[in-house]
Amino acid sequence: MDDVSMRRAIERKRDGEALEPSVWDDVIAAYCSGDVDDAQMAALAMACVWRGLEPAESVALTRAMVASGATLRYPEGMFVVDKHSSGGVSDIVSLVAVPLVAACGVRVAKLSGRALGHTGGTIDKLEAIEGFNATLPMDVFVHQVERVGCAIAAQSDAFVPADKRLYHLRDRTATVPSIGLIAASIVSKKIAGGANAFVFDVKCGSAAFMRDVRQAEALARMLVDISEQFGRKAHAIVSDMNEPLGRCIGTGIEVTEAREMLRGDAGDERARSGCVQIAAAMLELGGVGDARARAMRALEDGSAYTKFVEMVEAQGGSREALEALAPDERVTKLRASTEGVVVAIDAVRLGHVARELSAHNRRAGIRLGARIGDRIARGDVLADIYGAGADPGSIAAAFTIGAVSPAARPLVYATI
Ligand code: URA
Repeated sequence: MDDVSMRRAIERKRDGEALEPSVWDDVIAAYCSGDVDDAQMAALAMACVWRGLEPAESVALTRAMVASGATLRYPEGMFVVDKHSSGGVSDIVSLVAVPLVAACGVRVAKLSGRALGHTGGTIDKLEAIEGFNATLPMDVFVHQVERVGCAIAAQSDAFVPADKRLYHLRDRTATVPSIGLIAASIVSKKIAGGANAFVFDVKCGSAAFMRDVRQAEALARMLVDISEQFGRKAHAIVSDMNEPLGRCIGTGIEVTEAREMLRGDAGDERARSGCVQIAAAMLELGGVGDARARAMRALEDGSAYTKFVEMVEAQGGSREALEALAPDERVTKLRASTEGVVVAIDAVRLGHVARELSAHNRRAGIRLGARIGDRIARGDVLADIYGAGADPGSIAAAFTIGAVSPAARPLVYATI
């Protein structure tokens, strides 16, 4: 695509027209080859943010981006499910749901990212287990999914290089918030990952990309629709992210929370419910009946934990290393200076602090002593802060204590 054709595509999108699939193919190919530069691509991205994309355009963009790189293939007849979260704080769902679903007989191939902004990354968390290797060559990854039933590895740079470049540009040019662009970016990476079915966990709330339930639902619907256009089965769940999902925020300490849940510890009710809900959706896609009850059984009978240990061992870690993982011994108790009800928790602030804390110490982080809606007395523990270097005042500022209980918030706003 030459300069003039790209300029014409930008003008047409600026004026609200839908671009044909062949134009999207040309745009992405030219951007990858360097024939189209960042200036023109940023202008097109901004036009997309303002004018939106027709569903057919998102599908075309997804297809063009998948074609920019490698695609993973599983052996004929092997059914594999994958999940994706749009990013949250204390989001331990992948750590729990992946081995849990595999323990129930459905293979899971999870390609994950690293921490971004205030949100944690599953890969960084797993690397807190001594010896754990998350950068698997793709043939080793496929073999492990076949043999063990699950694997979690870092997304290879060979997949969807167009998205890597475009996402970076969108981040720099304030053009991330377009449902059509986000959906194409997410689904292209899932398609390249080769699974047959996907569950999308679209987070919604003050600590999520999507603040508004209607927008989150629109994204969820588009993720499912695009996936189906590629012949994949898909479910999406719009879930709350107005406070951390679990109690622990950090890298290693989130692994300890997931580990205890997998061992059958009831743990935090909201976190457990979130993990089981996603696992059940994955199991349904894999044809397992009575999925929720089946998932609960696997948590209670130890089979989910056994599968987690098997996965950790297959990826270079050991049961001993997993079980030795514990929060840093240095703990500061953050206590409430007043009585009342917790009406809000600033998960973005906590996510940033925990990310900084655990950047050089995988056993550091924050454990919540109270959640939104909890009634507290003066002196009650709001949070345990593990490791050294955090400013307790900055963590205290994340808690808003009031006199009146806030309205109850559901964990799940919609399922698609
Ligand atoms: N996550 C992605 O992978 N892509 C986006 O565009 C936004 C969030």
